[in-house]
Amino acid sequence: MDAQENYQENYQGPQRVFSGMQPTGALHLGNYLGALTKFVDLQNTHECLFCIVDLHAVTVFQDPKLLASQTREIAAAYLAAGVDPAKAIIYPQSQVAAHTELAWFFNCIARVGWLSRMTQFKDKAGKNSERVSVGLYAYPVLQAADILAFKATHVPVGEDQKQHLELSRDIAQKFNNDFGVPGFFPLPEPLIKGPGARIMSLRDGTKKMSKSDPSDNSRINLTDTADMIAKKFRKARTDAGMVPDNMDELADRPEVKNLVGIYAALSGLKDQQVLAQFAGQGFGVFKPALADLAVDKLRPISTRLNDYLDNPGEVDKVLADGAQKAHEISAPIMADVRKVMGFWGA
Ligand code: AMP
Ligand code: TRP
Repeated sequence: MDAQENYQENYQGPQRVFSGMQPTGALHLGNYLGALTKFVDLQNTHECLFCIVDLHAVTVFQDPKLLASQTREIAAAYLAAGVDPAKAIIYPQSQVAAHTELAWFFNCIARVGWLSRMTQFKDKAGKNSERVSVGLYAYPVLQAADILAFKATHVPVGEDQKQHLELSRDIAQKFNNDFGVPGFFPLPEPLIKGPGARIMSLRDGTKKMSKSDPSDNSRINLTDTADMIAKKFRKARTDAGMVPDNMDELADRPEVKNLVGIYAALSGLKDQQVLAQFAGQGFGVFKPALADLAVDKLRPISTRLNDYLDNPGEVDKVLADGAQKAHEISAPIMADVRKVMGFWGA
């Protein structure tokens, strides 16, 4: 599975951005800095679709009583972070049939060996790999279908999604080759670079910040109060040293490196500028400054998020409109896919 140097070789269609988040719990600072802030920037320069990937969520059991409200919550977080439905399409994955249909076609293109190499599956399945759902195994194939049902060319995601994007390109390329249609699908390019692509747990600088970490103190949720944010940063693991004056000294201090990276991403400063500001200070000074900055940045978002959650009708309207628009983009692409594959009636 070679990474493609020239992603858009042969592809002549328009540039389009696609990304998604699973409705499986409150969003955290990693989601915000790794993905949401990029969504907000990209909507000004590109046609964008931002999906709530509920079909991905059900690869592990989801309580049917909660799934719809969890979906609404992610939509509300997109809106609260500044995604504008006048500029970008926001919709739930399960409302647009192209996802499941193309995922099936791609199940027949992707190779078992490719999926067996997916590290996220290995992490999620752990020792249980015989007992998890078939859907969890095929999850990255559905992800490729999400992107390619819209012929999206660019995908803003955090670092952890890099391997899934490589798989999407391999599927696109094999489809183009197998059916003799060079350039039919673009080879989607991940947009990962930039500050915040990999925010780590506040309790363990070697693990990524994650919704599924059992310790709530490991992450800052977008819905945390100012007090909780301050407390979590105060408790964040660091060491007895001071803030150093250069990044080289952080090579084996992952927790400190992470906090400096979070400060940089939230403030728009470079890591080195953050160090220049705090070098020689203890964490008794740095952590409260970081907490104040995080509260300043996140409070307006959590206020708006709660306003949207109080007005579910408004969010539902955005989702229904978005689903209609997404359907209109994917329908002609799916008609072409059926033709290329030679199905009856196509
Ligand atoms: P998920 O919560 O797994 O649905 O992820 C939604 C988006 O947030 C994806 O683009 C992830 O790559 C991104 N993301 C999740 N966790 C982190 C993290 N700790 N640091 C940076 N980005 C993240
Ligand atoms: N797998 C992604 C995650 O866990 C979510 C996702 C599903 C996605 N489909 C996508 C991201 C398509 C980008 C594009 O974060």
